[in-house]
Amino acid sequence: MLPADPTQRLTLQRRIQEGDLVIAYERHDHMKAIKVTKGSILQNRFGVFNHSHWVGKPFGSKVFSNKNGFIYLLAPTPELWTLVLSHRTQILYIADISFVVMYLEIVPGCLVLESGTGSGSLTTSLARAIAPSGRVCTFDFHEQRAASAREDFEMTGVSSLVTVGVRDIQGEGFPDEFSGKADAVFLDLPQPWLAIPSAGKMLKPDGVICSFSPCIEQVQRSCETLKLKFTDIRTFEILLRTYEVKELSTEVGEVDEGISFRSPPRKKRQHSTATGKDSVATTVMAKPCSEARGHTGYLTFARLKCLA
Ligand SMILES: C[S@@+](CC[C@H](N)C(=O)[O-])C[C@H]1O[C@@H](n2cnc3c(N)ncnc32)[C@H](O)[C@@H]1O
Repeated sequence: MLPADPTQRLTLQRRIQEGDLVIAYERHDHMKAIKVTKGSILQNRFGVFNHSHWVGKPFGSKVFSNKNGFIYLLAPTPELWTLVLSHRTQILYIADISFVVMYLEIVPGCLVLESGTGSGSLTTSLARAIAPSGRVCTFDFHEQRAASAREDFEMTGVSSLVTVGVRDIQGEGFPDEFSGKADAVFLDLPQPWLAIPSAGKMLKPDGVICSFSPCIEQVQRSCETLKLKFTDIRTFEILLRTYEVKELSTEVGEVDEGISFRSPPRKKRQHSTATGKDSVATTVMAKPCSEARGHTGYLTFARLKCLA
């Protein structure tokens, strides 16, 4: 689990304990969240890993299976959690999340209101950004989703920073107790324009709202409502291009013309002829990820007008 203060970065001093959540990392596209339980095993294509062997090791450790295969045990940071959490809904990914945290000007101590909670992907990053003294109050009208999100926040160690409420935010708006107190509001709802008037009431003067919508028609309708009480309205579509980096070994003389990008420059590793081995060149290759995500949605930001 993350330490009580999630801003306290997990370092090599921090050792894995029983009950901790770890990310079992095989490759960047092959990771799994696991609760460390004495007597339990992880079995995968590399063999059998015994959880008991993990206890006491620092996060980041390379651990070995009975067949000498290995994985890394990584700390469950919000970045990794977003990649391994169970998708109960569509979720926000790192490119949108990082942009949201910056443009909503979220810093330690902020009060952030969010709806819907969904799978809690964004919420986990919001929690780290407002820690140790801020608060995220997130609402979803789906009771089971709210309950699962609470369990996840407990597991990832952010539950002391987050409250999850069950409420129809489009129908009822945010609770009056937050009126004029929120630094930022985030909406990921099918009809955000219905919740925008309430969000405006919740924000402090100069507070910022963000609404995520997959369709431009939703954005247009939200902007019409935003114009009444907000200024500096801007919409962004965040497209991320990820590169896959691989090291390749080829016989000297063989050239793969498909390689378009190399770093560092190709180096030749000449094996001694005495050993009878062929010359081998190692190449580091980077190419755009084939399964890169395209459009996820539009992020619309606006700042509450101060009427004084
Ligand atoms: C796409 S998900 C949010 C995903 C979330 N941003 C994440 O990163 O995991 C949208 C959520 O809004 C909730 N929702 C839809 N209408 C709602 C309403 N009127 N009030 C509250 N929540 C609502 C749904 O139950 C769903 O869980």
